[in-house]
Amino acid sequence: MITLGRLIRTAEQQKLDMMLSVLLGILLVLLYYSLSGRSKKTAIPSPSGFPLIGNLHQLSLTPHRSLCKLSKKHGPLMLLHLGRIQTVVVSSAELAHEFMRIHDLCFASRPRVKASKFLLYDGKDLAFAPYGEYWRQLKKLSITQLLSSKMVQSFARLLEREVAQLVQSISYVASDGGVFSLSEVFNWFTNALVCKAVLNSSISDEKKKLLAELIHMNSVYFVMVFAEDYFPSLRWMDVLLGLEGKLKRHHKKWDAVLDAMIEEHISSSEERGSKGISFLDVLLDVQKNDFSSEIHLTKEHVKANLLVMIAAGTDTSFAVLDWTMVELVRNPNLMRKAQEEIREIAQGEATVREEHLSKMHYLKAVIKNPFACIHRFHCCFLESAYKIAR
Ligand code: HEM
Repeated sequence: MITLGRLIRTAEQQKLDMMLSVLLGILLVLLYYSLSGRSKKTAIPSPSGFPLIGNLHQLSLTPHRSLCKLSKKHGPLMLLHLGRIQTVVVSSAELAHEFMRIHDLCFASRPRVKASKFLLYDGKDLAFAPYGEYWRQLKKLSITQLLSSKMVQSFARLLEREVAQLVQSISYVASDGGVFSLSEVFNWFTNALVCKAVLNSSISDEKKKLLAELIHMNSVYFVMVFAEDYFPSLRWMDVLLGLEGKLKRHHKKWDAVLDAMIEEHISSSEERGSKGISFLDVLLDVQKNDFSSEIHLTKEHVKANLLVMIAAGTDTSFAVLDWTMVELVRNPNLMRKAQEEIREIAQGEATVREEHLSKMHYLKAVIKNPFACIHRFHCCFLESAYKIAR
């Protein structure tokens, strides 16, 4: 007969055995993850990290600063293990040239981050589509129909008109002693300009406000840390924390706006008539004439590319204007020199014209400053660092 004491001891023994097996299991998983991430011999210097999370803990809320600090210690080429994702950080001009010019094709595709899957129709846009025939044809279309210097020059009149309106609205508020947010004004201005260039039609103030909000939220979601991006098997955590739901709701808002934009555009095409075709017209035309085109575009492709042009064009141009203005306000000496140059070259004219700009070397240098910062922190993300370690 089994006594009560033996029964308790057996139960305790079983509990201990179970705990030991769980601990052993965890240790094995940790060992597997840490070895599988590092077993490949790599020539790239890499800061030591922890099992599972790798170097994630070394990135702060200002990752550009953390990367800068790490690269000072480990050199201009370093390999980071961000969870399960290997990431190579390049932080010298010479190496950036090597990656982005000489070995351009190897690194032409961006990683398919979660935000791009949800917001850009599973990466059907120019920025996140993998390098290949579709991307090449789309790039060709974008350059010839929107981003070529000829097209940009054709927007000169539009730019002049929009700038005149901007200056007028600023001076109207300022003459009344009013206070306004220059950042907000710049955001609306760049958005109106980009929409006009992409759609060849103006958008209402109400829509401008909505777009500014959606574009701002895009930048929030594109820098947000999603578990799935670093640990593909942990998607359930994003669901549990409600982050995936937020992304889905944000995408729905965009989707409705893009649908309305396309519908409005199609229904007003007769009205616009001979005013020239826009980038959206070109996309819709390719979608319609599927058989004669080199690429196949669905409505989702059109929406993804419309979104990326509007958002990428607005956010970047706005950031450059905003940063430049902040630098000028913070450095009255720079502001004075820039103003002196503008007054001297524009010679009392009410507005600065395109032809004045080529002579404004100081102003150009001031505007280039934020670009230098963007380049300095440009990082290259690779699916696997092993390719370049060979
Ligand atoms: C001052 C303004 C701008 C800045 C600083 C800027 C900056 C950049 C940078 C750094 C990239 C990444 C390049 C790379 O990875 O090789 C990029 C890509 C891109 N930009 Fe801009 N950009 C600006 C204006 C615009 C405008 C006005 C548009 C559209 C109307 C636009 C659309 C795009 C697109 C679609 C891509 C992805 C292209 C690709 O992957 O090939 N950008 N931009």
